[in-house]
Amino acid sequence: MDKKVLRERMRKKQQQLRRRKMMKLGGYILAVILVVVFIVKGVILPITKGISGKDADKPVQVEADADKTAETKGTEDEPAAEKKEEGEAVRMPLATVSHITKASDMTAGWHEDENGKWYQNYDRTYYAGGMREIDGKTYSFDDNGYIQTGWVSDGFDDLYFNDDGSYNPEKHKTRIALTFDDGPGQYTDQLLDCLEENNAHATFFMQGINVGEWESTVQRMVDIGCEIGNHSWNHPEVTLQGLSDDQVIEQIQKTDAALEKACGQKSTVARAPYGAAGDREFQLAQKPFFMWSLDTLDWKTMSTESTVDAVMNGDLTDGSIILMHDIHEPSVQAALQIIPQLVEKGYKLMTVSELAEAKDVELQYASYADFWDSSLAKGLVAGYNGPLLESESSEESSDEGSDISDGEEDYSDGSEEEYSDEGEDYSDGSEEY
Ligand code: NI
Repeated sequence: MDKKVLRERMRKKQQQLRRRKMMKLGGYILAVILVVVFIVKGVILPITKGISGKDADKPVQVEADADKTAETKGTEDEPAAEKKEEGEAVRMPLATVSHITKASDMTAGWHEDENGKWYQNYDRTYYAGGMREIDGKTYSFDDNGYIQTGWVSDGFDDLYFNDDGSYNPEKHKTRIALTFDDGPGQYTDQLLDCLEENNAHATFFMQGINVGEWESTVQRMVDIGCEIGNHSWNHPEVTLQGLSDDQVIEQIQKTDAALEKACGQKSTVARAPYGAAGDREFQLAQKPFFMWSLDTLDWKTMSTESTVDAVMNGDLTDGSIILMHDIHEPSVQAALQIIPQLVEKGYKLMTVSELAEAKDVELQYASYADFWDSSLAKGLVAGYNGPLLESESSEESSDEGSDISDGEEDYSDGSEEEYSDEGEDYSDGSEEY
């Protein structure tokens, strides 16, 4: 073997060694690559995918949140143009607006144009068609998104909005209760049409004997918010006071049964035939009884004209109760004129129970003729919970559990502040009752 051959062998051997080394290294590298691929594919990717899946919405969410946090209180999470509750304004997207100069590049908050004031939300919507609270005040928006002022109807209620558009809970219309006796009859439905058209309520004191023939009419009274009253079964000429206890109870209960059959409910209030009733009758009937403050004498005159005149020129003080009879055609004809005229003049026509509630009176088994402020303040109205004119209950005496609180006059919490301009001295700490 010469040197040449030996060198050649050595070279080949070294080549072999190098190749093995390379293969080993290649193997390592491959293994490392495989491991890396495995880790990336099997572990890291699923995790990042999961994260990125959540992340996809995040920038949008953050934007939306930023909008919401800047938004007025109480309006969160409401998609555009979706009504939340009755009477509440909806959010209308500004992009759809063409009838008003609502530019979407305007900032959120109040804006005013030639048609009035409107409110832009941070989500590029405006309020329309209802009420919304903004910065602690309630506003009413018309269908075009402009605030309303003056009287606005909210269902049966009439709400007053100041010139700046904010709701004024102190203001109310002059409230009057129309009452109709002796029906129901053939003219009653026409009267109900008129009440419904004028967003008005009335109380019907019905004779039980008439109910069976007009059951659907009675049901309709309930449907349109009128009140079901009991006027005895057949209007006994001897009056309820001329009847025995059992007979009085029968007159009331028989009528209630007929009413319940007609409309699913008994009477809530009563009026005695001829208005003749006292404590015995109130207790036997277990109902509040109603007299009236304005007698149209419609049953006597049988004149539409004089009945209209009696009301329109009568005492329409807030809290008045007007007596009419829907059993007579001239009376109903008169009512068809009276109702729209009173509404036009700004009166609010309600049931006697609604009137009582509006006047802070919890009805008792007693007699009621009116809910005038003057009567209330004099302590003449049973169940009245408001302030009194009399000084009989000073602030200190009310703490002592005085004996007047047990009787008919438990008005011990009444404050006299509203009547201090009468010039009387309601000296504090006075022990007089
Ligand atoms: Ni009668």
